[in-house]
Amino acid sequence: MLIKPLIILDTHYQELNNDGEDVIQGLSQNPKSLPPKYFYDENGSKLFEQICQLPEYYPTRTEAWILSQYADEIAQITGSCELVELGSGSSTKTRILLDTYQKIADSSRYIPIDISGGILKTSVLQLQQEYPDFSIQGLLGTYEQALAHLKSNSSQTRMIFFLGSSIGNFTLQESNRFFSQIAHALKPGDYFLLGIDLQKAKEILEAAYNDSQGVTAAFNLNMLSHLNWRFQGDFNLNFFTHQAIYNEAENQIEMYLHCQENHWVSLDILNFKVSFQAGESILTEISRKFDLAIIQKQLEAQGLKPLKTWTDSQKWFGLILCQAQ
Ligand code: AVJ
Repeated sequence: MLIKPLIILDTHYQELNNDGEDVIQGLSQNPKSLPPKYFYDENGSKLFEQICQLPEYYPTRTEAWILSQYADEIAQITGSCELVELGSGSSTKTRILLDTYQKIADSSRYIPIDISGGILKTSVLQLQQEYPDFSIQGLLGTYEQALAHLKSNSSQTRMIFFLGSSIGNFTLQESNRFFSQIAHALKPGDYFLLGIDLQKAKEILEAAYNDSQGVTAAFNLNMLSHLNWRFQGDFNLNFFTHQAIYNEAENQIEMYLHCQENHWVSLDILNFKVSFQAGESILTEISRKFDLAIIQKQLEAQGLKPLKTWTDSQKWFGLILCQAQ
């Protein structure tokens, strides 16, 4: 096959100009924060794959169950379409959809988009072997870069899917912006499939983000290693500890790195130095937990009309199929 496995959207120009600005910005604030996209270097993507298999981390397997139950119904509603996945990672759950869409069309396109080049390339090459009837092309970049790139090129019916409740990383305002970008990458009649983690007891949520094997802690701390190699930093990982708490007022998990020592950190490539106090913390991620009725209204208001919603029997996780208006 002649198609290139990857299109790289993150150009050198952008790399030089704004890469790391968000790090400086987050660490200059009080309280400090860092963008969750910096979790996903090579090692971070691997650690996330491990998280997905943890006994405490129910979202992945619950969503996979819903997909396997209802993939046929989803495909019946949408008919054959071009499949675009945001944040595809290893594309494990995707295989359920690819299997189903393979049955209803002779040839289809699958476009996985991810920010982590290693895992994207590996999974594209693997999927090209497994699904010879699909044309598969990966896009390497941020969601924004990918959605901007997708805008122009649509002839077939398109379904964008965004699984795993990654939407939970966005604040309400950011998610509205994101939904409107999705709507712009679709024509009227196209589809958007969204996976969302639903509100549930604090104990279940906190266990899922403070697992007993310490994989989530390693994932959280890895962000600092990533910043060290990417920006020539000198974060000492021994000075930080992981904690995730469920903020019930905001309905969100908050992941922190708590600082244990007064010290300075420099990131040479960014020409940036910042002081840390023992007792302060960096917010590395929010993971919002949703109410179905509320998010359905929000989607509709952005021109993405919910057609049908599926959940598991405990209502722990939801899958919403929307149609662009
Ligand atoms: C990839 C954002 C969906 O919020 O559950 C898992 C990331 N962080 N454990 C989530 C994550 C800690 C995950 N998302």
